Amino acid sequence: MKRIFSGIQPTHNMHLGNYLGAVRNWVALQGDEFETIYCVVDLHALTQPQDPVELRAHIRELAATLLAVGIDPARSILFAQSQVPGHSELAWLFSCVTPLGWLRRMTQFKDKAGKQQDTAMHGLLAYPVLMAADILLYKGTHVPVGEDQKQHLELTRDIAQSFNQRYGVDFFPLPEPQILGSATRVMSLRDGSKKMSKSDPSDYSRINMTDDADTIALKFRKAKTDPEPLPTEAEGLATRPEAENLVNIYGALAGKDVAAVLAEFGGTPFSTFKGALTDIAVAVLAPIGGEMRRLMADPGHVDAVLRQGGEKAAALAAPTLAEVQDIMGLLRP
Ligand code: TYM
Repeated sequence: MKRIFSGIQPTHNMHLGNYLGAVRNWVALQGDEFETIYCVVDLHALTQPQDPVELRAHIRELAATLLAVGIDPARSILFAQSQVPGHSELAWLFSCVTPLGWLRRMTQFKDKAGKQQDTAMHGLLAYPVLMAADILLYKGTHVPVGEDQKQHLELTRDIAQSFNQRYGVDFFPLPEPQILGSATRVMSLRDGSKKMSKSDPSDYSRINMTDDADTIALKFRKAKTDPEPLPTEAEGLATRPEAENLVNIYGALAGKDVAAVLAEFGGTPFSTFKGALTDIAVAVLAPIGGEMRRLMADPGHVDAVLRQGGEKAAALAAPTLAEVQDIMGLLRP
């Protein structure tokens, strides 16, 4: 059976990079071909310092945003990671088959811990082990993500393989990353060499799903560009990362490839193009923001969706965890 699992951190509300790179594909993949499981990974968020009151609000807000963009609880399981204790439990069991060297090599750990590796928290190093547990607890076969998660997915496959080999079983599948669409790495609006990220201190670096039309217009107006008009051919973008990023964003929002966007806007100045970009972003995001605000007016509904999703997820997870305990030689509780 094909089973999709993917997750998003509630460290902040969703931004356009999350949406175009991953979550939009989550919505599209709901259907008959796959069973779809989507998770607000609150335990992962704890690898960075969090204010408890804010974290709880962000979990609900992110769940509301996921519902607003079209995750349908009738077709997908939507839940919060901490509702299913099996995630933490399997992460511990995987910790015992994952060499430290694999974790120290992870780019995200090196970027986030920097030179402070001794004072960085263990959770930051163990982050990808928990991620492998998320996916494999459900024997997920396909994982729709943006490009930045590729290395973590490779590690998930390595952990699955390491477990299977060590115990001589063919138990865990090797999950396939699904890096889909034309915006798999949306860049910062302020610096075309950095990805759009929740952790960037400047809010002008990203478009949030909840930004209103004026904010979106202002952020695109302030977005870094160069003085040349847009090129007419895609090759002309090769050395212009900021221009390339805006063209990619426009294409992803309009459902057009780069050639089609440049056929329409090649030779026009950025002021014109940025106006068109704002219009299309507002057309896509305004209804989502409206729906999200409607959902947030009734947090009881969002909580109920998560609770029901958590129950369904726990029921799927229980037999896998029991089998893992058996395979590893533990007594079942
Ligand atoms: P997170 O919360 O950083 O991002 C959620 C999803 O958004 C994608 N993404 C982007 N795509 C394109 N351009 C960008 N600038 C951009 N920024 C983020 C991410 O690739 C991701 O797909 N480790 C994961 C969460 C996670 C997870 C999992 C994912 C935990 N367990 C199991 C899949 C399966 C993360 O931090 O995503």
